[in-house]
Amino acid sequence: MKIKNIKVCAFDAYGTCFDVNSAAENVAPKIGENWLSFSNTWRTSQLEYTWLRSLMKKHVDFWKITEDSLDYAITTHKIDKSLRDELLNLYKTLNPYPELKECLEKLKQKNIKTCILSNGTPDLLNHLVSNANVKNLFDEILSIEQVKIYKPDPKVYEMTTKKFNCNPSEVCFMSANNWDIVGGGVFGYQCVWVNRNNRVFDELGFHPKNTIKNLTELNNLV
Ligand code: 2OP
Repeated sequence: MKIKNIKVCAFDAYGTCFDVNSAAENVAPKIGENWLSFSNTWRTSQLEYTWLRSLMKKHVDFWKITEDSLDYAITTHKIDKSLRDELLNLYKTLNPYPELKECLEKLKQKNIKTCILSNGTPDLLNHLVSNANVKNLFDEILSIEQVKIYKPDPKVYEMTTKKFNCNPSEVCFMSANNWDIVGGGVFGYQCVWVNRNNRVFDELGFHPKNTIKNLTELNNLV
């Protein structure tokens, strides 16, 4: 259903705009046939560490969590430790999804404000958008480092409404991470779940009105 009366389109970064598996995929021959399973372990433990550190009130930034979760995945999957630095460097330049740039260009043609809202550090996010040549298509880059707590804490989603001086319902929020959609939805955003991998939505007390397969489809909604 069409999304109306929005002041800003906010985008999650990892998994939504950028392919978190592209780091491991780039060195798949050195990892072996289980490279995707390894990458999934890296990503799952990375997210778990963000949630646990927020609950424990023991914040470290997303780069430290990315390093720690990589070390866990390397040990779990018995991967050659000499790949560690190469994988970390590749994580700084994850592949953007192919439709990202055109999606953003079409939003700008409609004079819609855009931002990134992410767990990533400012440095990581600026590196990602610059490497993908889309830095000029985002009006703001919002990192949780401003509030020192991870998604789905409401303080994260409040950053957008404060930055753009708008109501939660005036934010159209895109994420491929369903728990992130729930966080934005219970905060009051109009949410669009980017279900790239045909997943089932979690039962966490909120379901989005809109689900799309990729960001191209967003331009039909906004
Ligand atoms: C992000 O905040 C959820 O990791 C994802 O970009």
